[in-house]
Amino acid sequence: MTNLDTLFTPGLVAAQQPQWPGGPDGAAVAQAVSELKKLPPLVFAGECDNLKEKVAEAQAGRAFWLQGGDCAETFASATADSIRNRIKTILQMAAVLQYASSLPVIKVGRMAGQFAKPRSNDLETRDGVTLPAYRGDAVNDIEFTEESRQPNPQRLVQVYNTSAATLNLVRAFTQGGFADLRQVHEWNKGFANDPRYGQRYEQMANEIGRALNFMTSAGVDPESFKKVDFYSSHEALILEYEKALTRIDSRTGNAYDVSGHMVWIGERTRQLDGAHLDFASKIHNPIGVKLGPKSTVEDALSMIRVLNPANEPGRLTFITRMGAGLVREKLPALVDAVNKSGAHVLWVCDPMHGNTYEAPSGYKTRRFDDVLDEVRGFFEVHKALGTHPGGIHIELTGDDVTECVGGGEQISEADLANRYETACDPRLNHTQSLELAFLVAEMLRDR
Ligand code: PEP
Ligand code: CO
Repeated sequence: MTNLDTLFTPGLVAAQQPQWPGGPDGAAVAQAVSELKKLPPLVFAGECDNLKEKVAEAQAGRAFWLQGGDCAETFASATADSIRNRIKTILQMAAVLQYASSLPVIKVGRMAGQFAKPRSNDLETRDGVTLPAYRGDAVNDIEFTEESRQPNPQRLVQVYNTSAATLNLVRAFTQGGFADLRQVHEWNKGFANDPRYGQRYEQMANEIGRALNFMTSAGVDPESFKKVDFYSSHEALILEYEKALTRIDSRTGNAYDVSGHMVWIGERTRQLDGAHLDFASKIHNPIGVKLGPKSTVEDALSMIRVLNPANEPGRLTFITRMGAGLVREKLPALVDAVNKSGAHVLWVCDPMHGNTYEAPSGYKTRRFDDVLDEVRGFFEVHKALGTHPGGIHIELTGDDVTECVGGGEQISEADLANRYETACDPRLNHTQSLELAFLVAEMLRDR
């Protein structure tokens, strides 16, 4: 049986941690951690194992991974409407991808735990005033005042409570009939028939409708359309939180991070000798690691050695975020070397984080065409190497925000100010997300 008190290696450097009042060993952090340790798990270890089995299927080319949600969830946006719209968007995307690929789609929210952000700068200056940077609702408040920006570890308890409420609604929606495939298809028809998008998506939507009718006429039990598996994921960034929610699974004696089904380690915190990799190596969840354009073959192979020494299927996902301009140049060597090593890895494309730029108005944005082009490059690389383009990782919202430019609605840089609501990076809005799904579906069909 694993001992939680000695599980994690002491004394390692953890990048991107907040300057908690009293320091990481102070009374304020200790109080929050002790509260968290008493709270029940948010997910069951058996669910993490189920997800791992699905990831193993995707690694073998028999499933496709769809992960989406906010860059940074906020406590204020954990409302019924916002949660429902995000789930609806992901379900709509999944239906289209599933039809085109003829593969099961693994549905994963960047949701119910995605409250902490790594930052390039510890400080932010506005009009000559310098304050700690916003690090997500898990750490401080986005409002630019001295008091709001002060890190407060009690927020970690609020992350737990908000995640619990979010996950509760997610489970209700995905098990209670809201996610019925026939209903999801009705929503997609509404999108595909919108004259703004011409006829490009109509044909596929009609085909999906006929496929559903065919299944019903063939006697497939309509009850089987009603429930879907939906998993939660977030970046494992604030180690006090993740460690406090790491528990021993009574069935196996193994440690699981029960704050979410899947967690990933970000581009800025994946130091080989750092505390984040040590953490990830000790938990038994399915895990991900982000790989940016500076990643070397040696980096990727070392990650595999540290995080999955037994080469367990389903355990490890590489989420690549190269940028549209670099994906065709940088990705092939990594995929080729990992493939030749025989390691089981799921390759997922994050076409968001390598494509961010600042519009002249100062808004951080992304071009829809760059996002699409990175996914296209990702598919090209895998096709050339004979490997499986295993999935996509998208920052999105179900609302009609104006944060990314382009798409069928032709959002311009001047439009960004209309409805720019993200607490961190720009997200695809509802229709941009669906459009991306239809376009990726074409790639999947043609692969
Ligand atoms: C993110 O996923 O929001 C993020 C910060 O990504 P990365 O670690 O790839 O920069
Ligand atoms: Co982001």
